[in-house]
Amino acid sequence: MNKKIRVGILFGGQSAEHEVALQSAKNIVDAIDRDRYEVELIGIDKQGGWHLQDARKFLLDAADPAHIRLNAGTDNLAVVPTQGHQPIVSLSAQEREVGPLDVIFPVLHGPFGEDGTVQGLLKLAHLPFVGASVLGSAVGMDKDVMKRLLRDAGIPIPKFVTITRAAYPRLDLDQAVAAVGLPCFVKPANLGSSVGITKAHDRAELRQAMDFAFQYDRKILLEEAIDGREIECAVLGNENPVASVPGEVITDHTRHEFYSYDAKYLDEQGAALVIPAQLPDHLSRAVQTLAVQTFQTLCCEGMGRVDCFVTADERVVINEINTIPGFTRISMYPKLWEASGIPYPELIHRLIQLGLERHAQEQTLATSKA
Ligand SMILES: Nc1ncnc2c1ncn2[C@@H]1O[C@H](COP(=O)(O)OP(=O)(O)O)[C@@H](O)[C@H]1O
Ligand SMILES: [Mg+2]
Repeated sequence: MNKKIRVGILFGGQSAEHEVALQSAKNIVDAIDRDRYEVELIGIDKQGGWHLQDARKFLLDAADPAHIRLNAGTDNLAVVPTQGHQPIVSLSAQEREVGPLDVIFPVLHGPFGEDGTVQGLLKLAHLPFVGASVLGSAVGMDKDVMKRLLRDAGIPIPKFVTITRAAYPRLDLDQAVAAVGLPCFVKPANLGSSVGITKAHDRAELRQAMDFAFQYDRKILLEEAIDGREIECAVLGNENPVASVPGEVITDHTRHEFYSYDAKYLDEQGAALVIPAQLPDHLSRAVQTLAVQTFQTLCCEGMGRVDCFVTADERVVINEINTIPGFTRISMYPKLWEASGIPYPELIHRLIQLGLERHAQEQTLATSKA
């Protein structure tokens, strides 16, 4: 039997979705094929510290989504840019060291994890990893750059206006409102989980919403509000990505105006997932085609969940990509693959293989003039 591949699951992180990442990591650990893989767990606490975790006790209150937390020890890990020897080292004397790792599976959402920063660190350490690389991650995180690339590729998106903090005092509000209409959505460019996002119905709300969004980022977007169903599609692959069946998120509009942070994470009745989405075939196919185009336009690799709106007059409008989607067993990304014929353990296997394949290909590239 071949030697087992040693996978480092790098999880948690500093974002608002820290707890979701803990659940995702637990599900991956429980489901990964032990005949093929050996797992090492590296937890990132909310302050950004890295810790080697013991698989038997890495979570506290694991069964309770409201109180789950990382059982971070006192040790600290460091990543050393290197090639040829183990790049993840312990800063304090430990009973146990991180052994050599063949590949990293990042389970981190939002800034400092999904945005290319961790991916850059892993590249410097010459560690193969799952999912989009530096560019795809960074582009997928920045809603302004993402939308400019999609617009350039002719992919349908909502009308939008980007405002930097420097330009904000000189903003022509009439012009901005004329461009996107009211109501409109106001968002920080680089965040996730609906944090900092408001639906503004009039100019007074718009001003407030912009001030609020600027608390989270130096760049914000105003977006045309699209009246449509929220459809999500999973994409898997490197050069030849494929799309899953689409799924639908149905927000309970008597409780939440849109798919807000509360609807996503706090209110159990806030939203329901319907898999597969009840769409006519031609619309499902249109969603799948646009999902793959979006994935490729945004330089993504491995995995991505593409979220869009489908309007009553059958337009598909792309909202965004998530380069590290939620990975709990009840999350949309793995559920969509399950409904498309790829069970959860097989999905984990394919994603790891895609990360290893990409790395192997990169190794064959010339790095200097012949
Ligand atoms: N242009 C829009 N039209 C209609 N609804 C929107 C629009 N933009 C965002 N929303 C609503 O806000 C939610 C969060 O916005 P999104 O851009 O997906 O940010 P995040 O990256 O935080 O998930 C969406 O799921 C949707 O419910
Ligand atoms: Mg979203």
